[in-house]
Amino acid sequence: MERTYTSELKSGKKVLVMGWARNIRELGGLIFIQLADREGSVQVTLKKGETDDKILKIVKEMNREDCFSVEGSVVKSKQAPGGVELKPTAIEIISKADTPLPIEFDGKIKTGLDKRLDYRFLDLRNPRNMAIFKIRSQMFKATTDFFDSQGFMNINTPKLTVAGVESGAELFPVMYFNKEAFLSQSPQIYKQMMVMGGFEKVYEIAPVFRAEKSHTTRHLTEFTGIDFEMGFIKDVHDVMDVNENLMKHIIGHILKKCDEELKIFDIKLKVPKKIPRITMKEAKEMLAKKGKKLGEKDDLDAEGEKLLGKLMNEKTGEDFVFVYNYPWEKRPFYHMKPEDDPSITSSFDLIWNGVEISTGAQREHRYDILKKQAKEKGVNLDEMKDYGNIFLFGSMPHGGTGFGLDRFVECLLKLENIREAILLPRDPERLTP
Ligand code: 4AD
Ligand code: MG
Repeated sequence: MERTYTSELKSGKKVLVMGWARNIRELGGLIFIQLADREGSVQVTLKKGETDDKILKIVKEMNREDCFSVEGSVVKSKQAPGGVELKPTAIEIISKADTPLPIEFDGKIKTGLDKRLDYRFLDLRNPRNMAIFKIRSQMFKATTDFFDSQGFMNINTPKLTVAGVESGAELFPVMYFNKEAFLSQSPQIYKQMMVMGGFEKVYEIAPVFRAEKSHTTRHLTEFTGIDFEMGFIKDVHDVMDVNENLMKHIIGHILKKCDEELKIFDIKLKVPKKIPRITMKEAKEMLAKKGKKLGEKDDLDAEGEKLLGKLMNEKTGEDFVFVYNYPWEKRPFYHMKPEDDPSITSSFDLIWNGVEISTGAQREHRYDILKKQAKEKGVNLDEMKDYGNIFLFGSMPHGGTGFGLDRFVECLLKLENIREAILLPRDPERLTP
């Protein structure tokens, strides 16, 4: 017999289902087993005196989370969750589960995140936790669908590199035979390279490594970057447009495809109508009025982002805001400066419910100016020949953005910790499992 998922059961049918024994209860002459598979669960009901003794004997020995199969008939039941139950004609144990279970994951007893992550594969058997990854999987799909539909080329670039360009983000050194190399801290150099290679519009979804010793609820040392880059732009607003349309597409897709999963989370998700765009100067003025004072050269800190998200939401009704014209002081050398103001850059952050989810910019494509900007930041462009070269043989105004998929999922579901949004997090304290 072909296997049937618990979501496909129809009364009157004979079926074969497979899954885990999530819960086993005995009540008088009745035994109930909740069989869970990836689609949901069904109640298997046994009755002493009615069910075959051989089956009752197997069930007597069963532990929670034993993996097993049931053949039987689906019958309507008022008491059973889901309205149907399974009357077994055969039960087979596929593999036993040890007792006791190392973590509780049924939601009745709260288990700390650290312990949950130690046994992540068990933790994922909780429908809420699995739902996070069903949604993440759909966000990934929506992202590639979006870029493909907009004519962006999907690229894969090296993660073993010799240099990085993101100021502030630390590099992980690795031994590369007898040389020192680094894990990629962003595909920045390569995506610009491929725009100049004639692709014009590229995107990459790939691991990004940052040796940041930060213990926050939104930083990881390895995360999944969503990066895009595009050539022949008018200005940085073209780049923001792509960000905005991507957000609309992803949220629209999730609302359509993940209705059941979203119900588990206490969130109100809506497609943005128009994401407001304000300059850093305007943002700082708004914050100052509320008592949060930031200097001209300052970045927005986490507290500032949070407050700004709240103020903008009250003002516009949107959960998102672009802040642009970040101070030169806080941006890497490759961000372009506008003609009329060398103290700022043509760059932006996209903030969602008070949290940064992407950073983008127009890049400096004029070699001489780029070299000068690099020098200002203590970088010698002559020592970065592979990067410098891409501006010497026909370059053009271009720009792009980096998002973090994990940060994305955290913000969309309003999770308390980014570690919930990634299967197996890497942070300064964790390198396993
Ligand atoms: O702001 P970041 O460092 O920008 C860049 O990497 C540039 N190359 C982007 C560009 O094209 N101009 O990183 C981009 C995004 C952040 O907004 C955040 O969503 C995520 O990547 N991110 C992290 N996510 C998890 N853990 C970390 N340590 C992260 N660092 C950045
Ligand atoms: Mg950033």
